Amino acid sequence: MSRILITSALPYVNGIPHLGHMVGCLLPSDVYARYQRMLGNEVLYICGTDEHGTPSEVGAAKENLPVEDYCTKYHNRHKDVYHKFNLSFDFFGRTSTPQNEEIVNHIFAQLDKNGFIEEKIIKQVFSIDDNRFLPDRYITGTCPHCGYDKARGDQCENCTRVLEPTELINPRSTISGSTNLEVRETKHLFLNLPKLESELAEWVKTKEPYWPDVAYSIAQKWLKEGLQERCITRDLKWGFPVPRAGYEDKVFYVWFDAPIGYIGISKQWADEKPQERDWKSWWLDAKDVYYVQFMGKDNVPFHSISFPATLLGTRENWTKVDYLKGMSYLTFEGGKFSKSEHRGIFAEDAIEEFPADYWRYWLMSNAPEASDSSFSFDGFAGVVNKDLNGVLGNFVSRVLKMTASKIGSEVPASGEMTAQEQELITTLQEKVDNYLKYLKDMEFRKALNELRAIWVDGNNYISATEPWTVIKENPDRAAAILRVCINLIRIFAILCAPIMPDTSTAILAKLGRADENISLKEFSVAKEIEALQPGQKFEVGEALFERITPEKVEDLKVKYGSGK
Ligand code: 2FM
Ligand code: ZN
Repeated sequence: MSRILITSALPYVNGIPHLGHMVGCLLPSDVYARYQRMLGNEVLYICGTDEHGTPSEVGAAKENLPVEDYCTKYHNRHKDVYHKFNLSFDFFGRTSTPQNEEIVNHIFAQLDKNGFIEEKIIKQVFSIDDNRFLPDRYITGTCPHCGYDKARGDQCENCTRVLEPTELINPRSTISGSTNLEVRETKHLFLNLPKLESELAEWVKTKEPYWPDVAYSIAQKWLKEGLQERCITRDLKWGFPVPRAGYEDKVFYVWFDAPIGYIGISKQWADEKPQERDWKSWWLDAKDVYYVQFMGKDNVPFHSISFPATLLGTRENWTKVDYLKGMSYLTFEGGKFSKSEHRGIFAEDAIEEFPADYWRYWLMSNAPEASDSSFSFDGFAGVVNKDLNGVLGNFVSRVLKMTASKIGSEVPASGEMTAQEQELITTLQEKVDNYLKYLKDMEFRKALNELRAIWVDGNNYISATEPWTVIKENPDRAAAILRVCINLIRIFAILCAPIMPDTSTAILAKLGRADENISLKEFSVAKEIEALQPGQKFEVGEALFERITPEKVEDLKVKYGSGK
């Protein structure tokens, strides 16, 4: 048994998750965690809300809440909706906890002791009316290049040019709109990445055979361009205090404490049951741990460069990423999801419209891996109706109904398997092996193609063998075919469990196996096809899926802003 540490990038607490977030790291990491557990491996699967920084302060002020209460409110909303999507975190924590603060302070002290922290004086825009320094992206003004009047201090969204806030014409505070701004000098602490560069480059090189191309090439690009010193403090109130004289009005930068949050959250998890949970064995001198991180591709530089460099600089043996899965983006009907423009379906609404497995299946079938993918209600309804209803759901109900009405509500006893079944077993085993290999390699679209092909084989088998006709002449043969089909249903339930856990449980319940401890370890179709013995009772029950009608699709388009 191996130990697999899995983290999903920590969502910003103030951002209400939409389908793009769900498939951008949360769902893939969950599928992978479930798959690893079903192999019998020991898994620690960690996520939580990323809480510090200006957006939380601004959001709290807008809602007139203390920032701690604001974060608690939104943390609970995240936790709730992820639970409804069946994300099987071992722990969903927060970055603003005392546990994370303790680890952040420890790592900072180590970096400082080892000479990787430096102080520098920098110039920053101060808003007199807001009484605060403004982060670059909280300054708005006219772009000096294209004249766009809502350019941000870090970048113009219109012409995409990278800007310095001081370049903006008529700059104003995004928070209050005030133009009463001035440039002030202020001191900050920097992580000296150039000092760690060669060591980091060596470490990255060891990852080449393992990391996916996208992640490896992003890391290489950064290294090639040469690493810059990275400011790790900010002039804010909401964050961890910087334990250094003269820094009383500053906190650590959110991107310093957020990745350390993976460790802090693991400690939070352990602190709840200290006798049972040993967070350190996962994170320090952990020779037997394989660490997989899931994230959107914009997060890759932080996870492949700055976070590993931070850990290297401690001169302690912290667990660093072994495999880094960077996902591309999901668009909504080809455009951006936007809460303020009511465009796109957000996770909280999605789960009210359809059960989690409809979403999980569609999202994983269309996971934005090699390139971006786009959500549309037409496409979604098409997949649910065709794959889930037409292929999987139809097979399950057809087989169980036919057996119940022609033979009885238990696995039929008579008849033997023939060469036709041996052929089916061989074909299915090949597909199952591919499916499991794709899950292992985190190639989710390919994995789901294979899963669908397995269901199709079941349908083809029953169409080819025609038990409804055979039963008239040869009831024993029909019984054997239907016994095979019922066992196929159980096989489908086991295989789909990482993707569609509720459906898996619902199918197993029909077969009287609701509590079965299902496994994917050394999965043998030849063995599993005989697992359900004659006499095992089953019930037809309700249909597994409902068709999505064209009228419903039109309603959804209006409700969630398609095509506006
Ligand atoms: O991009 C984001 O949503 C960040 N909140 C991800 C942080 S991941 C980790 F480093 F905490
Ligand atoms: Zn511009």
